[in-house]
Amino acid sequence: MHEFRVGEDDFELDGRPLRLLSGALHYFRVHESQWGHRLAMLRAMGLNCVETYVPWNLHEPRPGEYRDLDALGRFLDAAHEAGLWAIVRPGPYICAEWENGGLPHWITGPLGPRARTRDAVYGAAVARWFAALLPQVVARQVDRGGPVLMVQVENEYGSYGSDARYLAQLRDLLLDLGVSVPLFTSDGPEDHMLTGGGVPGVLATANFGSGARAAFATLRGHRPKGPLMCMEFWCGWFDHWGAGHAVREPGDAAEALREILECGASVNLYMAHGGTSFGGWAGANRAGELHDGRLLPDVTSYDYDAPIDEYGRPTPKFFAFREVLAAYAEEPPPGLPPAPPSLGAPVFAPVRDRVPLAEVLAALGGPETEGPLPPSFEELDVDRGLVRYTVRVPGPRQPYPLSAPGLRDRAVVYVDGRRAGVLTEEQPVLPEPVAGPAEVELWTESLGRVGYGPRTGEPKGATGGLRHERQFLHGVRARGLRLDAFDAAERVRALPFTAAPGDGAAGLYRASAEIRGAGDARLRLPGWTRGFVWVNGFCLGRYWSLGPQDSLYVPGPVLREGACEVWVLELEEAGTAVELSGVSGPGS
Ligand code: GLA
Repeated sequence: MHEFRVGEDDFELDGRPLRLLSGALHYFRVHESQWGHRLAMLRAMGLNCVETYVPWNLHEPRPGEYRDLDALGRFLDAAHEAGLWAIVRPGPYICAEWENGGLPHWITGPLGPRARTRDAVYGAAVARWFAALLPQVVARQVDRGGPVLMVQVENEYGSYGSDARYLAQLRDLLLDLGVSVPLFTSDGPEDHMLTGGGVPGVLATANFGSGARAAFATLRGHRPKGPLMCMEFWCGWFDHWGAGHAVREPGDAAEALREILECGASVNLYMAHGGTSFGGWAGANRAGELHDGRLLPDVTSYDYDAPIDEYGRPTPKFFAFREVLAAYAEEPPPGLPPAPPSLGAPVFAPVRDRVPLAEVLAALGGPETEGPLPPSFEELDVDRGLVRYTVRVPGPRQPYPLSAPGLRDRAVVYVDGRRAGVLTEEQPVLPEPVAGPAEVELWTESLGRVGYGPRTGEPKGATGGLRHERQFLHGVRARGLRLDAFDAAERVRALPFTAAPGDGAAGLYRASAEIRGAGDARLRLPGWTRGFVWVNGFCLGRYWSLGPQDSLYVPGPVLREGACEVWVLELEEAGTAVELSGVSGPGS
Protein backbone atom coordinates (compact mmCIF):
# COMPACT_ATOMS: atom_id res chain seq x y z
CA MET A 1 0.00 0.00 0.00
CA HIS A 2 1.24 3.46 -0.87
CA GLU A 3 0.21 7.03 -0.44
CA PHE A 4 0.30 9.15 -3.56
CA ARG A 5 -0.43 12.83 -3.35
CA VAL A 6 -0.27 16.09 -5.23
CA GLY A 7 2.34 18.17 -3.41
CA GLU A 8 3.09 21.90 -3.74
CA ASP A 9 5.78 21.31 -6.37
CA ASP A 10 5.88 17.58 -7.04
CA PHE A 11 3.89 14.41 -6.99
CA GLU A 12 4.75 12.54 -3.81
CA LEU A 13 4.79 8.83 -3.25
CA ASP A 14 5.07 7.90 0.42
CA GLY A 15 6.42 11.37 1.09
CA ARG A 16 9.11 11.30 -1.62
CA PRO A 17 8.94 13.23 -4.88
CA LEU A 18 7.99 11.07 -7.88
CA ARG A 19 8.29 12.14 -11.48
CA LEU A 20 5.80 10.36 -13.69
CA LEU A 21 7.32 9.14 -16.93
CA SER A 22 4.15 7.79 -18.43
CA GLY A 23 3.05 6.49 -21.79
CA ALA A 24 -0.42 6.15 -23.28
CA LEU A 25 -1.46 2.68 -24.38
CA HIS A 26 -5.15 1.95 -24.93
CA TYR A 27 -5.95 -1.61 -23.84
CA PHE A 28 -8.83 -1.64 -26.35
CA ARG A 29 -6.43 -1.02 -29.24
CA VAL A 30 -4.14 -3.94 -28.49
CA HIS A 31 -5.03 -7.64 -28.59
CA GLU A 32 -5.17 -8.82 -24.99
CA SER A 33 -2.56 -11.55 -25.55
CA GLN A 34 -0.12 -8.81 -26.48
CA TRP A 35 -0.65 -6.47 -23.52
CA GLY A 36 2.30 -8.03 -21.71
CA HIS A 37 4.67 -7.48 -24.61
CA ARG A 38 3.62 -3.87 -25.14
CA LEU A 39 3.81 -3.03 -21.43
CA ALA A 40 7.30 -4.54 -21.29
CA MET A 41 8.22 -2.30 -24.23
CA LEU A 42 7.06 0.76 -22.25
CA ARG A 43 9.30 -0.30 -19.37
CA ALA A 44 12.20 -0.89 -21.76
CA MET A 45 11.81 2.69 -23.07
CA GLY A 46 12.35 3.94 -19.53
CA LEU A 47 8.76 4.70 -18.53
CA ASN A 48 7.42 4.06 -15.04
CA CYS A 49 3.70 4.49 -15.72
CA VAL A 50 1.03 3.64 -18.30
CA GLU A 51 -2.06 5.69 -19.07
CA THR A 52 -5.30 4.49 -20.63
CA TYR A 53 -8.69 5.88 -21.55
CA VAL A 54 -11.89 3.86 -21.19
CA PRO A 55 -14.37 3.93 -24.13
CA TRP A 56 -17.92 4.00 -22.79
CA ASN A 57 -19.49 3.04 -26.14
CA LEU A 58 -17.37 -0.10 -26.42
CA HIS A 59 -18.48 -1.35 -23.04
CA GLU A 60 -22.15 -0.29 -23.03
CA PRO A 61 -23.41 -1.03 -26.57
CA ARG A 62 -27.03 -0.64 -25.48
CA PRO A 63 -28.33 1.16 -22.39
CA GLY A 64 -27.66 -0.98 -19.34
CA GLU A 65 -26.16 -3.81 -21.43
CA TYR A 66 -22.48 -4.20 -20.60
CA ARG A 67 -19.76 -5.95 -22.55
CA ASP A 68 -16.48 -7.12 -21.04
CA LEU A 69 -16.58 -4.70 -18.14
CA ASP A 70 -13.60 -6.46 -16.55
CA ALA A 71 -11.19 -5.66 -19.39
CA LEU A 72 -9.92 -2.50 -17.70
CA GLY A 73 -9.26 -4.37 -14.46
CA ARG A 74 -7.37 -7.10 -16.27
CA PHE A 75 -5.28 -4.48 -18.03
CA LEU A 76 -4.48 -2.67 -14.79
CA ASP A 77 -3.42 -6.00 -13.29
CA ALA A 78 -1.14 -6.58 -16.29
CA ALA A 79 0.35 -3.11 -15.81
CA HIS A 80 0.96 -3.84 -12.15
CA GLU A 81 2.62 -7.11 -13.03
CA ALA A 82 4.82 -5.32 -15.55
CA GLY A 83 6.01 -2.98 -12.79
CA LEU A 84 4.21 0.14 -14.01
CA TRP A 85 2.05 2.68 -12.22
CA ALA A 86 -1.21 3.56 -13.95
CA ILE A 87 -3.29 6.61 -14.80
CA VAL A 88 -6.92 6.06 -15.76
CA ARG A 89 -8.94 8.47 -17.88
CA PRO A 90 -12.50 7.14 -17.77
CA GLY A 91 -14.10 10.03 -19.63
CA PRO A 92 -17.05 9.64 -20.00
CA TYR A 93 -15.88 11.51 -23.12
CA ILE A 94 -12.40 10.56 -24.31
CA CYS A 95 -11.86 11.98 -27.83
CA ALA A 96 -8.93 9.65 -28.77
CA GLU A 97 -9.91 9.43 -32.48
CA TRP A 98 -12.46 6.91 -31.26
CA GLU A 99 -16.02 6.62 -32.60
CA ASN A 100 -18.10 9.49 -31.11
CA GLY A 101 -15.25 10.37 -28.73
CA GLY A 102 -16.35 7.34 -26.72
CA LEU A 103 -19.92 8.50 -26.16
CA PRO A 104 -22.61 5.94 -26.97
CA HIS A 105 -24.72 6.69 -30.05
CA TRP A 106 -27.81 6.03 -27.93
CA ILE A 107 -27.01 9.05 -25.78
CA THR A 108 -25.89 11.54 -28.45
CA GLY A 109 -28.73 10.52 -30.77
CA PRO A 110 -31.54 11.74 -28.54
CA LEU A 111 -29.56 14.40 -26.64
CA GLY A 112 -27.33 15.97 -29.31
CA PRO A 113 -25.18 18.72 -27.77
CA ARG A 114 -26.87 18.33 -24.39
CA ALA A 115 -24.36 15.50 -23.84
CA ARG A 116 -21.30 16.71 -21.91
CA THR A 117 -23.42 19.15 -19.92
CA ARG A 118 -25.35 19.19 -16.65
CA ASP A 119 -28.35 17.73 -18.53
CA ALA A 120 -30.20 15.36 -16.17
CA VAL A 121 -30.76 12.52 -18.66
CA TYR A 122 -27.10 12.54 -19.63
CA GLY A 123 -26.07 12.77 -15.97
CA ALA A 124 -28.16 9.74 -15.04
CA ALA A 125 -26.64 7.67 -17.87
CA VAL A 126 -23.11 8.67 -16.82
CA ALA A 127 -23.88 7.87 -13.16
CA ARG A 128 -25.10 4.39 -14.10
CA TRP A 129 -22.07 3.76 -16.34
CA PHE A 130 -19.53 4.97 -13.77
CA ALA A 131 -21.22 2.92 -11.04
CA ALA A 132 -20.67 -0.15 -13.24
CA LEU A 133 -17.11 0.73 -14.27
CA LEU A 134 -15.46 2.41 -11.31
CA PRO A 135 -15.18 -0.64 -9.04
CA GLN A 136 -12.52 -1.87 -11.51
CA VAL A 137 -10.48 1.23 -10.77
CA VAL A 138 -11.23 1.75 -7.09
CA ALA A 139 -10.06 -1.75 -6.12
CA ARG A 140 -6.75 -1.11 -7.89
CA GLN A 141 -5.87 2.25 -6.43
CA VAL A 142 -2.41 2.68 -5.01
CA ASP A 143 -3.76 3.15 -1.49
CA ARG A 144 -5.24 -0.34 -1.77
CA GLY A 145 -2.09 -1.95 -3.09
CA GLY A 146 -2.84 -1.46 -6.79
CA PRO A 147 -1.10 0.55 -9.54
CA VAL A 148 -3.62 3.39 -10.05
CA LEU A 149 -2.15 6.75 -9.07
CA MET A 150 -4.59 9.24 -10.58
CA VAL A 151 -7.96 9.51 -12.31
CA GLN A 152 -8.97 12.16 -14.85
CA VAL A 153 -12.20 14.16 -14.82
CA GLU A 154 -13.70 14.37 -18.36
CA ASN A 155 -11.22 15.09 -21.17
CA GLU A 156 -10.07 18.44 -22.49
CA TYR A 157 -13.46 19.79 -21.50
CA GLY A 158 -12.25 23.35 -22.11
CA SER A 159 -11.99 22.59 -25.83
CA TYR A 160 -15.70 21.89 -25.83
CA GLY A 161 -17.74 23.70 -23.20
CA SER A 162 -17.92 25.85 -20.12
CA ASP A 163 -20.42 23.99 -17.94
CA ALA A 164 -18.60 24.19 -14.61
CA ARG A 165 -21.56 22.61 -12.90
CA TYR A 166 -21.22 19.50 -15.08
CA LEU A 167 -17.53 19.14 -14.22
CA ALA A 168 -18.25 19.57 -10.52
CA GLN A 169 -20.96 16.90 -10.72
CA LEU A 170 -18.52 14.52 -12.39
CA ARG A 171 -15.90 15.18 -9.72
CA ASP A 172 -18.47 14.50 -6.99
CA LEU A 173 -19.60 11.32 -8.73
CA LEU A 174 -16.02 10.00 -8.86
CA LEU A 175 -15.52 10.80 -5.18
CA ASP A 176 -18.86 9.22 -4.22
CA LEU A 177 -17.92 6.05 -6.08
CA GLY A 178 -14.78 5.71 -3.99
CA VAL A 179 -11.97 7.34 -5.95
CA SER A 180 -9.45 8.23 -3.25
CA VAL A 181 -6.36 8.92 -5.39
CA PRO A 182 -5.86 12.43 -6.80
CA LEU A 183 -8.16 13.65 -9.56
CA PHE A 184 -6.97 15.87 -12.40
CA THR A 185 -8.15 17.56 -15.57
CA SER A 186 -6.23 18.03 -18.81
CA ASP A 187 -6.59 20.86 -21.34
CA GLY A 188 -4.83 22.72 -24.08
CA PRO A 189 -2.49 25.40 -22.69
CA GLU A 190 -4.76 28.28 -23.61
CA ASP A 191 -6.65 30.58 -21.27
CA HIS A 192 -10.13 29.75 -22.51
CA MET A 193 -9.40 26.03 -22.41
CA LEU A 194 -7.94 26.11 -18.93
CA THR A 195 -10.77 28.25 -17.58
CA GLY A 196 -13.45 26.16 -19.31
CA GLY A 197 -11.95 22.80 -18.39
CA GLY A 198 -10.56 23.31 -14.90
CA VAL A 199 -12.22 22.39 -11.62
CA PRO A 200 -11.32 24.42 -8.52
CA GLY A 201 -9.22 22.32 -6.15
CA VAL A 202 -8.46 19.67 -8.78
CA LEU A 203 -4.99 19.44 -10.35
CA ALA A 204 -4.85 20.91 -13.86
CA THR A 205 -2.46 19.47 -16.47
CA ALA A 206 -1.70 20.57 -20.04
CA ASN A 207 -1.66 18.82 -23.42
CA PHE A 208 0.71 19.88 -26.21
CA GLY A 209 3.27 18.66 -28.71
CA SER A 210 6.01 21.26 -28.28
CA GLY A 211 6.90 24.50 -26.54
CA ALA A 212 6.83 23.17 -22.96
CA ARG A 213 8.21 26.33 -21.35
CA ALA A 214 5.53 28.58 -22.83
CA ALA A 215 2.79 26.02 -22.19
CA PHE A 216 3.69 25.60 -18.52
CA ALA A 217 3.97 29.38 -18.12
CA THR A 218 0.36 29.66 -19.31
CA LEU A 219 -0.67 26.87 -16.95
CA ARG A 220 1.10 28.63 -14.07
CA GLY A 221 -0.93 31.74 -14.82
CA HIS A 222 -3.96 29.74 -13.72
CA ARG A 223 -2.36 27.42 -11.17
CA PRO A 224 0.54 29.04 -9.32
CA LYS A 225 1.21 25.83 -7.36
CA GLY A 226 1.19 22.08 -7.91
CA PRO A 227 3.25 19.63 -9.93
CA LEU A 228 3.58 20.33 -13.64
CA MET A 229 2.53 17.63 -16.02
CA CYS A 230 2.07 17.35 -19.76
CA MET A 231 -0.75 14.82 -19.82
CA GLU A 232 -0.57 14.41 -23.59
CA PHE A 233 2.77 14.99 -25.19
CA TRP A 234 1.82 14.47 -28.84
CA CYS A 235 4.97 12.80 -30.08
CA GLY A 236 3.26 11.78 -33.33
CA TRP A 237 -0.16 12.21 -34.89
CA PHE A 238 -3.02 10.27 -36.46
CA ASP A 239 -4.09 9.87 -40.10
CA HIS A 240 -7.30 10.52 -42.04
CA TRP A 241 -8.55 8.58 -45.03
CA GLY A 242 -7.67 10.46 -48.19
CA ALA A 243 -4.86 12.50 -46.62
CA GLY A 244 -1.11 12.04 -46.13
CA HIS A 245 0.55 9.90 -43.46
CA ALA A 246 1.56 11.99 -40.45
CA VAL A 247 5.20 11.74 -39.43
CA ARG A 248 7.08 13.51 -36.68
CA GLU A 249 10.83 13.44 -36.89
CA PRO A 250 12.33 11.54 -33.91
CA GLY A 251 15.01 14.13 -33.10
CA ASP A 252 12.48 16.93 -33.00
CA ALA A 253 10.16 14.90 -30.77
CA ALA A 254 13.03 13.94 -28.45
CA GLU A 255 14.01 17.60 -28.06
CA ALA A 256 10.42 18.53 -27.19
CA LEU A 257 10.41 15.74 -24.59
CA ARG A 258 13.66 16.98 -23.14
CA GLU A 259 12.21 20.47 -22.77
CA ILE A 260 9.26 19.08 -20.77
CA LEU A 261 11.57 17.20 -18.44
CA GLU A 262 13.91 20.18 -18.07
CA CYS A 263 10.94 22.12 -16.73
CA GLY A 264 10.84 19.62 -13.86
CA ALA A 265 7.56 18.28 -15.19
CA SER A 266 6.03 14.84 -15.44
CA VAL A 267 4.94 13.57 -18.84
CA ASN A 268 2.59 11.16 -20.54
CA LEU A 269 3.65 10.27 -24.09
CA TYR A 270 0.62 10.32 -26.34
CA MET A 271 0.94 7.70 -27.70
CA ALA A 272 3.71 5.42 -26.39
CA HIS A 273 2.09 2.69 -28.48
CA GLY A 274 -1.00 3.59 -30.49
CA GLY A 275 -2.15 0.17 -31.69
CA THR A 276 -5.17 -0.30 -33.91
CA SER A 277 -8.81 0.82 -33.93
CA PHE A 278 -10.02 -2.73 -34.46
CA GLY A 279 -13.69 -3.47 -34.99
CA GLY A 280 -14.52 -0.34 -37.00
CA TRP A 281 -14.22 1.88 -33.92
CA ALA A 282 -12.14 4.62 -35.58
CA GLY A 283 -13.81 8.00 -35.24
CA ALA A 284 -13.68 11.16 -37.33
CA ASN A 285 -12.85 14.83 -37.13
CA ARG A 286 -14.19 17.97 -38.75
CA ALA A 287 -11.69 20.10 -40.65
CA GLY A 288 -10.84 23.73 -40.00
CA GLU A 289 -9.72 26.00 -37.24
CA LEU A 290 -13.04 25.66 -35.42
CA HIS A 291 -13.47 21.97 -36.26
CA ASP A 292 -16.70 22.62 -38.08
CA GLY A 293 -15.66 21.90 -41.67
CA ARG A 294 -15.38 18.84 -43.89
CA LEU A 295 -15.62 15.35 -42.42
CA LEU A 296 -12.20 13.75 -41.93
CA PRO A 297 -12.67 10.07 -41.06
CA ASP A 298 -9.82 8.45 -39.12
CA VAL A 299 -7.98 5.45 -40.53
CA THR A 300 -7.99 2.05 -38.81
CA SER A 301 -4.34 2.12 -37.83
CA TYR A 302 -3.56 4.14 -34.72
CA ASP A 303 0.16 3.75 -35.25
CA TYR A 304 0.40 7.46 -34.42
CA ASP A 305 4.04 7.50 -35.51
CA ALA A 306 4.58 6.53 -31.88
CA PRO A 307 7.92 5.26 -30.52
CA ILE A 308 6.50 1.71 -30.43
CA ASP A 309 4.85 1.18 -33.81
CA GLU A 310 1.53 -0.49 -34.57
CA TYR A 311 3.34 -3.84 -34.86
CA GLY A 312 4.89 -3.44 -31.43
CA ARG A 313 8.36 -2.76 -32.81
CA PRO A 314 10.77 -0.16 -31.45
CA THR A 315 11.33 2.72 -33.87
CA PRO A 316 14.21 5.23 -33.98
CA LYS A 317 11.93 7.45 -31.84
CA PHE A 318 11.90 4.71 -29.19
CA PHE A 319 15.69 4.79 -28.91
CA ALA A 320 15.82 8.60 -29.00
CA PHE A 321 13.25 8.80 -26.18
CA ARG A 322 15.00 6.11 -24.17
CA GLU A 323 18.13 8.19 -24.20
CA VAL A 324 16.33 11.33 -23.05
CA LEU A 325 14.35 9.49 -20.37
CA ALA A 326 17.45 7.72 -19.01
CA ALA A 327 18.67 10.95 -17.43
CA TYR A 328 15.47 11.24 -15.39
CA ALA A 329 14.76 7.63 -14.44
CA GLU A 330 15.54 6.27 -10.99
CA GLU A 331 17.11 3.12 -12.40
CA PRO A 332 18.28 1.91 -15.81
CA PRO A 333 15.45 0.41 -17.87
CA PRO A 334 15.18 -3.35 -18.42
CA GLY A 335 16.11 -4.75 -21.83
CA LEU A 336 13.64 -5.18 -24.67
CA PRO A 337 11.30 -8.17 -24.46
CA PRO A 338 11.63 -10.75 -27.25
CA ALA A 339 9.81 -9.64 -30.42
CA PRO A 340 6.48 -11.43 -31.03
CA PRO A 341 6.60 -14.15 -33.69
CA SER A 342 5.90 -13.13 -37.27
CA LEU A 343 3.91 -15.07 -39.87
CA GLY A 344 6.08 -17.66 -41.62
CA ALA A 345 5.27 -18.12 -45.29
CA PRO A 346 3.25 -15.44 -47.10
CA VAL A 347 -0.25 -16.49 -48.12
CA PHE A 348 -2.28 -15.67 -51.22
CA ALA A 349 -5.92 -16.57 -50.62
CA PRO A 350 -8.39 -16.28 -53.51
CA VAL A 351 -12.02 -15.66 -52.54
CA ARG A 352 -14.01 -18.83 -52.47
CA ASP A 353 -17.61 -17.71 -52.19
CA ARG A 354 -19.83 -14.79 -51.33
CA VAL A 355 -23.26 -13.62 -50.23
CA PRO A 356 -24.79 -10.55 -51.94
CA LEU A 357 -25.17 -7.57 -49.62
CA ALA A 358 -28.97 -7.66 -49.69
CA GLU A 359 -28.94 -11.20 -48.35
CA VAL A 360 -26.46 -10.31 -45.63
CA LEU A 361 -28.81 -7.52 -44.59
CA ALA A 362 -31.82 -9.82 -44.72
CA ALA A 363 -30.14 -12.31 -42.38
CA LEU A 364 -28.12 -10.09 -40.02
CA GLY A 365 -29.86 -6.72 -40.22
CA GLY A 366 -32.29 -5.10 -37.80
CA PRO A 367 -36.01 -4.82 -38.45
CA GLU A 368 -37.15 -2.80 -41.46
CA THR A 369 -38.93 0.44 -40.61
CA GLU A 370 -41.17 2.57 -42.77
CA GLY A 371 -41.92 6.25 -42.29
CA PRO A 372 -42.29 9.55 -44.11
CA LEU A 373 -38.59 10.50 -43.77
CA PRO A 374 -35.35 8.53 -43.56
CA PRO A 375 -34.53 7.76 -39.92
CA SER A 376 -31.01 8.44 -38.65
CA PHE A 377 -28.57 5.66 -37.79
CA GLU A 378 -29.18 6.54 -34.16
CA GLU A 379 -32.93 6.05 -34.52
CA LEU A 380 -32.23 2.65 -36.05
CA ASP A 381 -29.78 1.82 -33.24
CA VAL A 382 -26.82 1.46 -35.58
CA ASP A 383 -23.51 2.48 -34.06
CA ARG A 384 -20.96 1.16 -36.55
CA GLY A 385 -22.24 -0.21 -39.84
CA LEU A 386 -24.65 0.75 -42.57
CA VAL A 387 -28.27 1.46 -43.39
CA ARG A 388 -30.18 0.70 -46.56
CA TYR A 389 -32.81 3.30 -47.40
CA THR A 390 -35.37 2.33 -50.04
CA VAL A 391 -37.66 4.91 -51.62
CA ARG A 392 -39.93 5.08 -54.64
CA VAL A 393 -39.82 7.94 -57.13
CA PRO A 394 -43.44 8.33 -58.30
CA GLY A 395 -44.12 8.42 -62.02
CA PRO A 396 -44.47 8.88 -64.78
CA ARG A 397 -42.29 11.95 -64.59
CA GLN A 398 -39.31 13.28 -66.47
CA PRO A 399 -35.71 12.91 -65.20
CA TYR A 400 -34.75 15.21 -62.33
CA PRO A 401 -31.74 15.34 -60.00
CA LEU A 402 -31.98 12.97 -57.07
CA SER A 403 -30.24 14.12 -53.91
CA ALA A 404 -29.61 13.41 -50.25
CA PRO A 405 -28.63 16.80 -48.79
CA GLY A 406 -27.07 16.54 -45.34
CA LEU A 407 -25.99 12.98 -46.06
CA ARG A 408 -23.64 11.46 -43.53
CA ASP A 409 -21.49 10.00 -44.74
CA ARG A 410 -21.57 8.10 -47.99
CA ALA A 411 -24.13 6.12 -49.99
CA VAL A 412 -23.77 3.73 -52.89
CA VAL A 413 -27.00 4.25 -54.88
CA TYR A 414 -28.89 1.77 -57.04
CA VAL A 415 -31.77 2.85 -59.30
CA ASP A 416 -33.98 -0.06 -60.34
CA GLY A 417 -31.19 -2.41 -59.28
CA ARG A 418 -28.47 -0.70 -61.34
CA ARG A 419 -25.59 1.15 -59.72
CA ALA A 420 -26.14 4.87 -60.28
CA GLY A 421 -23.30 6.47 -58.32
CA VAL A 422 -21.93 7.31 -54.91
CA LEU A 423 -23.28 10.21 -52.86
CA THR A 424 -21.23 11.98 -50.21
CA GLU A 425 -21.69 14.95 -47.93
CA GLU A 426 -19.93 17.14 -50.53
CA GLN A 427 -21.57 15.54 -53.58
CA PRO A 428 -25.10 14.71 -52.45
CA VAL A 429 -26.58 14.73 -55.99
CA LEU A 430 -26.54 11.73 -58.35
CA PRO A 431 -24.53 12.39 -61.54
CA GLU A 432 -27.45 11.46 -63.85
CA PRO A 433 -31.04 12.65 -63.33
CA VAL A 434 -33.58 9.95 -62.51
CA ALA A 435 -36.96 9.52 -64.22
CA GLY A 436 -40.04 8.14 -62.43
CA PRO A 437 -41.34 5.68 -61.61
CA ALA A 438 -38.20 4.20 -60.12
CA GLU A 439 -37.12 2.28 -57.06
CA VAL A 440 -34.03 3.76 -55.37
CA GLU A 441 -31.79 2.11 -52.79
CA LEU A 442 -29.16 4.03 -50.86
CA TRP A 443 -26.63 1.83 -49.06
CA THR A 444 -25.45 4.39 -46.56
CA GLU A 445 -22.33 4.11 -44.42
CA SER A 446 -21.11 5.90 -41.36
CA LEU A 447 -17.39 6.56 -41.75
CA GLY A 448 -17.05 7.10 -38.01
CA ARG A 449 -18.70 9.60 -35.71
CA VAL A 450 -17.00 12.89 -34.98
CA GLY A 451 -15.09 12.75 -31.70
CA TYR A 452 -13.79 16.29 -31.24
CA GLY A 453 -15.21 19.81 -31.27
CA PRO A 454 -18.68 21.27 -31.62
CA ARG A 455 -19.89 18.59 -34.06
CA THR A 456 -19.09 15.73 -31.65
CA GLY A 457 -21.90 13.21 -31.64
CA GLU A 458 -23.70 14.50 -34.73
CA PRO A 459 -26.08 11.91 -36.20
CA LYS A 460 -25.42 9.73 -39.24
CA GLY A 461 -27.66 8.91 -42.19
CA ALA A 462 -29.77 10.83 -44.69
CA THR A 463 -30.31 13.60 -42.16
CA GLY A 464 -31.75 16.11 -44.67
CA GLY A 465 -34.17 13.68 -46.32
CA LEU A 466 -34.19 12.39 -49.91
CA ARG A 467 -35.23 14.70 -52.72
CA HIS A 468 -36.27 14.59 -56.35
CA GLU A 469 -35.72 18.05 -57.75
CA ARG A 470 -37.15 20.16 -54.85
CA GLN A 471 -39.65 17.55 -53.80
CA PHE A 472 -39.10 15.42 -50.72
CA LEU A 473 -39.45 11.73 -51.48
CA HIS A 474 -41.69 10.45 -48.73
CA GLY A 475 -42.35 6.91 -47.65
CA VAL A 476 -38.88 5.62 -46.86
CA ARG A 477 -38.10 2.09 -45.78
CA ALA A 478 -34.92 1.67 -43.74
CA ARG A 479 -32.96 -1.21 -42.37
CA GLY A 480 -29.72 -1.14 -40.39
CA LEU A 481 -26.82 -3.57 -40.27
CA ARG A 482 -24.70 -3.28 -37.13
CA LEU A 483 -21.13 -4.48 -37.39
CA ASP A 484 -21.47 -6.40 -34.15
CA ALA A 485 -23.98 -8.68 -35.91
CA PHE A 486 -20.85 -10.37 -37.31
CA ASP A 487 -19.72 -11.27 -33.79
CA ALA A 488 -22.07 -14.26 -34.07
CA ALA A 489 -19.77 -16.37 -36.26
CA GLU A 490 -22.24 -19.27 -36.56
CA ARG A 491 -24.86 -16.92 -37.99
CA VAL A 492 -22.34 -15.60 -40.50
CA ARG A 493 -21.31 -19.13 -41.51
CA ALA A 494 -24.98 -20.05 -41.96
CA LEU A 495 -25.45 -17.34 -44.64
CA PRO A 496 -26.28 -18.60 -48.16
CA PHE A 497 -22.74 -18.45 -49.60
CA THR A 498 -22.39 -19.38 -53.26
CA ALA A 499 -19.36 -19.44 -55.58
CA ALA A 500 -18.18 -15.88 -56.23
CA PRO A 501 -18.99 -15.00 -59.86
CA GLY A 502 -16.18 -12.43 -60.07
CA ASP A 503 -18.49 -9.54 -60.93
CA GLY A 504 -17.08 -7.38 -58.15
CA ALA A 505 -20.53 -6.71 -56.66
CA ALA A 506 -20.89 -5.57 -53.06
CA GLY A 507 -21.29 -8.44 -50.62
CA LEU A 508 -19.70 -10.59 -47.97
CA TYR A 509 -16.81 -12.56 -49.46
CA ARG A 510 -15.04 -15.49 -47.89
CA ALA A 511 -11.51 -16.79 -48.37
CA SER A 512 -9.50 -19.48 -46.66
CA ALA A 513 -5.86 -18.78 -45.83
CA GLU A 514 -3.54 -21.74 -45.15
CA ILE A 515 -1.23 -20.59 -42.37
CA ARG A 516 2.18 -22.08 -41.70
CA GLY A 517 3.94 -20.43 -38.79
CA ALA A 518 1.25 -18.28 -37.15
CA GLY A 519 2.40 -14.84 -36.01
CA ASP A 520 1.95 -11.13 -36.59
CA ALA A 521 0.96 -10.40 -40.18
CA ARG A 522 0.00 -7.69 -42.61
CA LEU A 523 -3.18 -8.14 -44.67
CA ARG A 524 -3.48 -6.56 -48.11
CA LEU A 525 -6.62 -6.31 -50.23
CA PRO A 526 -5.46 -5.57 -53.77
CA GLY A 527 -8.30 -4.49 -56.04
CA TRP A 528 -10.85 -4.09 -53.24
CA THR A 529 -12.48 -0.74 -52.55
CA ARG A 530 -13.95 -0.19 -49.08
CA GLY A 531 -15.41 -2.24 -46.29
CA PHE A 532 -14.50 -4.29 -43.27
CA VAL A 533 -12.44 -7.44 -42.85
CA TRP A 534 -12.40 -10.24 -40.27
CA VAL A 535 -9.87 -13.01 -39.66
CA ASN A 536 -11.19 -16.00 -37.74
CA GLY A 537 -14.10 -13.84 -36.61
CA PHE A 538 -11.86 -11.00 -35.30
CA CYS A 539 -12.69 -7.68 -36.97
CA LEU A 540 -9.47 -6.00 -38.12
CA GLY A 541 -11.34 -2.81 -39.04
CA ARG A 542 -12.12 -0.75 -42.10
CA TYR A 543 -10.05 -0.86 -45.29
CA TRP A 544 -10.28 1.72 -48.06
CA SER A 545 -8.34 1.95 -51.31
CA LEU A 546 -8.28 5.74 -50.84
CA GLY A 547 -5.28 5.36 -48.52
CA PRO A 548 -2.97 6.37 -46.98
CA GLN A 549 -3.36 3.09 -45.09
CA ASP A 550 -2.83 0.24 -47.55
CA SER A 551 -2.69 -2.81 -45.29
CA LEU A 552 -4.17 -3.95 -42.01
CA TYR A 553 -2.41 -5.28 -38.95
CA VAL A 554 -3.30 -8.88 -38.06
CA PRO A 555 -2.31 -9.66 -34.47
CA GLY A 556 -0.55 -13.04 -34.38
CA PRO A 557 -2.87 -14.48 -31.70
CA VAL A 558 -5.79 -14.18 -34.14
CA LEU A 559 -4.16 -16.61 -36.57
CA ARG A 560 -3.71 -20.33 -36.06
CA GLU A 561 -1.92 -23.09 -37.93
CA GLY A 562 -3.86 -24.46 -40.89
CA ALA A 563 -6.95 -22.98 -42.49
CA CYS A 564 -7.90 -19.46 -41.33
CA GLU A 565 -11.16 -17.94 -42.38
CA VAL A 566 -11.19 -14.42 -43.86
CA TRP A 567 -14.43 -12.49 -44.36
CA VAL A 568 -14.47 -9.31 -46.42
CA LEU A 569 -17.57 -7.12 -46.35
CA GLU A 570 -17.09 -5.09 -49.55
CA LEU A 571 -19.43 -2.16 -49.97
CA GLU A 572 -18.47 -0.90 -53.39
CA GLU A 573 -16.32 -2.97 -55.76
CA ALA A 574 -14.76 -6.27 -54.72
CA GLY A 575 -11.37 -7.75 -55.57
CA THR A 576 -10.62 -11.43 -56.00
CA ALA A 577 -8.05 -12.39 -53.33
CA VAL A 578 -6.45 -11.30 -50.07
CA GLU A 579 -2.76 -11.48 -49.18
CA LEU A 580 -1.06 -12.07 -45.87
CA SER A 581 2.60 -11.49 -45.27
CA GLY A 582 4.96 -11.59 -42.32
CA VAL A 583 6.42 -8.63 -40.51
CA SER A 584 10.11 -8.16 -40.94
CA GLY A 585 12.65 -5.60 -39.90
CA PRO A 586 12.54 -2.87 -37.30
CA GLY A 587 9.83 -0.23 -37.09
CA SER A 588 10.36 3.03 -38.96
C1 GLA B 1 -6.61 15.53 -27.69
C2 GLA B 1 -7.41 14.45 -27.00
C3 GLA B 1 -6.87 13.07 -27.26
C4 GLA B 1 -6.50 12.90 -28.70
C5 GLA B 1 -5.52 13.97 -29.12
C6 GLA B 1 -5.09 13.90 -30.56
O1 GLA B 1 -5.55 15.89 -26.95
O2 GLA B 1 -7.50 14.67 -25.62
O3 GLA B 1 -7.86 12.15 -26.89
O4 GLA B 1 -7.66 12.98 -29.47
O5 GLA B 1 -6.12 15.21 -28.97
O6 GLA B 1 -4.63 12.65 -30.89
